[in-house]
Amino acid sequence: MFKIAVISPSIRKGRNSQRIALWINELIKREELGEPVFIDLLEYNFPLFHERLKFQETPSPAALDFAEKISSADGVIIILPEYNGGYPASLKNATDLLTTEWRRKPVAFICVSDGPFAGSQSVTSMLFSLWKIGALTIPATLRIPYIERDFDQTGKPADRESTDKRGTKLVKELLWYIEAKKRMETE
Ligand SMILES: Cc1cc2nc3c(=O)[nH]c(=O)nc-3n(C[C@H](O)[C@H](O)[C@H](O)COP(=O)(O)O)c2cc1C
Repeated sequence: MFKIAVISPSIRKGRNSQRIALWINELIKREELGEPVFIDLLEYNFPLFHERLKFQETPSPAALDFAEKISSADGVIIILPEYNGGYPASLKNATDLLTTEWRRKPVAFICVSDGPFAGSQSVTSMLFSLWKIGALTIPATLRIPYIERDFDQTGKPADRESTDKRGTKLVKELLWYIEAKKRMETE
């Protein structure tokens, strides 16, 4: 079973995108699509990093733990709330901490917003950052609008059946890329 890291990036008080992270994490576990590894950037409580991890003389245990989780994951799902057309600074801070950990890492996005637009603009800036760093971002993207209305705080969707169906489709697409990469590595 492949390890799938789920990044919940919002560190905002009263955040709502955490609901989507909880939902997809639970779905992966329940449907046995993979072994989910939950990464909550609020829990890490990272400072604004002055330097990349590999150049830090005394990295914090939290930074090392985050690096290990990304490094050991077979694939990553990033929940992407939109902040003024881009992705949150907390996510930029954590992304730029790492280097080779991202290389050829299959990454899928779930773009979210509390309004009608489903965070569709935030993905462009995140795609560019991960492309620059050498991650294998996959074309399939899930877009979820009205996250506060359509999910409760535990991540339970109002329309369980169709939401789970869309989530499963995204995870299976990510698994295709994970599998393809594994085959290349074993040949
Ligand atoms: C600083 C900030 C900027 C935002 N900018 C946008 C935006 O450009 N487009 C959009 O659709 N929603 C925007 N929103 C609303 C977010 O989609 C909504 O607050 C969402 O819940 C953010 O995720 P979070 O609650 O997990 O932090 C913004 C919210 C914040 C806090």
